[in-house]
Amino acid sequence: MFELVHKNKLPEHVAIIMDGNGRWAREQGLPRMTGHKAGMDTLIDIVGCANELGLKIVTFYAFSTENWKRPLQEVSFLMQLPEEYLQKELHRLIEKNIVITVMGDLEGLPGNTSVAVKKALQATRNNKGMILNFALNYGGRSEILNAVKRVSRDVSDGVLDEEHITEEVFSSYLYTGGFPDPDLLIRPSGELRISNFLLWQMAYTELWFNSILWPDFKREHFLEAILDYQNRERRFGGI
Ligand code: IPE
Ligand code: IPE
Ligand code: MG
Repeated sequence: MFELVHKNKLPEHVAIIMDGNGRWAREQGLPRMTGHKAGMDTLIDIVGCANELGLKIVTFYAFSTENWKRPLQEVSFLMQLPEEYLQKELHRLIEKNIVITVMGDLEGLPGNTSVAVKKALQATRNNKGMILNFALNYGGRSEILNAVKRVSRDVSDGVLDEEHITEEVFSSYLYTGGFPDPDLLIRPSGELRISNFLLWQMAYTELWFNSILWPDFKREHFLEAILDYQNRERRFGGI
């Protein structure tokens, strides 16, 4: 399947909602945490595949601003996964020249998660390869509000002229400032919604849904989504 992908027609930025860990675990009579663990293995595999394909940016939705509603035990478990992931993978990511970036309300993360994340940002910031972007404590609405507040502050400070607030300028105030909008969104697990993910940025993103649960999501599914994307006609409102 890998050979079927047109290397000159790759999506520049792919966003992925990693979903279905809990249901995957429940189906096997296992605790939800086992599902999250298995989901981490999928993440590692798909990052490898994205890098081999030569994608420029991949964004993974790891924890939403709404995920705090879950039981404390699950939230704590999810919050220690970034650290665990980085302990296991950081050396490999550095070796592969990957740049790690994180978007979301990082102030709201527990101390050890934030330390692990900062270390990874620092250790990979001079790399030149694929950008591996994590949405962590991320919410699309909160991102937009945050941008609006910063824009209005810059206007009142005289740094920004109201006349100059174009879509491009506004985009630069978002967490993704500088990144192209995602070309393709992948959401497994059968849910047909975007769950407060990249609301502004997904105006013209191609959506790809599949009912496979994230821990069962394999490279072949990822490639299937990319191939599907390559066969679509993007019109952006034109003809
Ligand atoms: C995705 O799996 C992980 C996070 C949202 C953090 P879920 O935990 O949402 O799994 P389901 O949707 O309950 O199956
Ligand atoms: C979206 O999944 C958030 C992440 C994958 C981090 P959810 O499982 O939280 O989404 P809903 O609640 O089904 O919309
Ligand atoms: Mg879910």
